[in-house]
Amino acid sequence: MYSSLAAQLRSLLEGERDFIANAANVAALLYHSLPNLNWAGFYLLREGELVLGPFQGQPACVRIAIGKGVCGTAAQHRQTILVENVHEFPGHIACDSESNSEIVVPLIKDQQLIGVLDLDSPLFGRFDEEDAAGLNALARIFVDSISLEAGSSLL
Ligand code: SME
Repeated sequence: MYSSLAAQLRSLLEGERDFIANAANVAALLYHSLPNLNWAGFYLLREGELVLGPFQGQPACVRIAIGKGVCGTAAQHRQTILVENVHEFPGHIACDSESNSEIVVPLIKDQQLIGVLDLDSPLFGRFDEEDAAGLNALARIFVDSISLEAGSSLL
């Protein structure tokens, strides 16, 4: 599944370095390809907090402090976080009451945290280590595709 998604993502992003365009296509590809998701998208680091970026799913909370919720915790530790049951995660931020499990992958470019990729599922225990590895590989393809040089800021 993930090697096929990686190939699809490479061809989808090929030749394009625009951050928003590529992030939007990543969210759409994941949301429509991976089974049992109710949300897939980005929170981006802006002036020390995470701000909602391109996504697919229900409208979501806009700002998340570093260290708060699953997203802020993954951002703070720069580590992928797998949550089998979000209701047991201290400080989980419930954006969609349908979500029961979640995975958050930090996005690092040139040693800088630029945001996180967040996937939610209505199933408990939807995500495992294979998802963590596969999503990290897809996040790497995305991060390598974008240009954050002067004059091409995130927005
Ligand atoms: N549940 C996340 C918030 C973002 S929504 O899932 C889209 C969290 O606890 O950080």
